[in-house]
Amino acid sequence: MITFSRTMVTHRKPTNHPHPKVSLRRMTLQDYTPVIRLWSQGNIPYRPQGRDSKKNIEKQLRQPNCFFLIAEVDHKIIGAIVGTHDGRKGWINRQVVSPSYQKKGIARRLVTEVERHFTSMGIDIVACLIEEWNISSMQVFEQLGYTKHTDILYFSKRKSMKV
Ligand SMILES: CC(C)(COP(=O)(O)OP(=O)(O)OC[C@H]1O[C@@H](n2cnc3c(N)ncnc32)[C@H](O)[C@@H]1OP(=O)(O)O)[C@@H](O)C(=O)NCCC(=O)NCCS
Repeated sequence: MITFSRTMVTHRKPTNHPHPKVSLRRMTLQDYTPVIRLWSQGNIPYRPQGRDSKKNIEKQLRQPNCFFLIAEVDHKIIGAIVGTHDGRKGWINRQVVSPSYQKKGIARRLVTEVERHFTSMGIDIVACLIEEWNISSMQVFEQLGYTKHTDILYFSKRKSMKV
C-alpha cells in the first residue's frame, strides 16, 4: 500500500479533456446498487457483509465526516468517489469511473470537488492509499498533484476478514 497526499497550496491544473455532459451530486441510498456495480467493475474491494453492506452504507451516508459523490450522464451513474476526514486530514477512497467514460477528466472533477469540500472545512491536506499493483491509479493521482510517499507502511487491525 502506498500513500499519496496533496497539500492544497498549489494552483489546480485545469483539465484539458473535453468531457461529456457530466453532473456531480451527493450519493443517496437509492444509488447503492449501481455504485456497488461500479466498484466491482473497477476492482475496488467490496465487503458486502462488512463496511459495504447496505445498512452500513446507509449509516455512512448520514455521517457528517463522510462525503459520497457520484458522477452522472443522463441520469446514469458513471463515476463515484468517497471522501472522509478525521478532522485533521481528508481521505479519498473508492474512486472509480466506468471504463467507457475514462480519460475524459471525470476523476479529476470528482477529486477536485472532494478537495473543495475539505477546503471549505479548513482541511488543507488530502491523502489516499493505493495498492502497489495499481500503477495506473498512482499515475492518475500524480497527475492530480499528489505526492507519492514510499516511506510509509500501512497497518490495520480488523475484527474479521468481512469488515
Ligand atoms: C483511476 C480512475 C478513477 C481514473 O478515472 P478517469 O476519469 O479516467 O481519470 P481522468 O480522466 O480524470 O484523468 C485524470 C488524470 O490522470 C491521467 N490518467 C487517467 N487514466 C490514466 C491511466 N490509466 N494511466 C495514466 N494516467 C492516467 C489523465 O491523463 C489525467 O491527467 P491530465 O488531466 O493531466 O491529462 C479510473 O481509471 C478507474 O476507475 N480505475 C479503476 C478503479 C481504480 O483503480 N480506482 C482507484 C482506486 S485507488
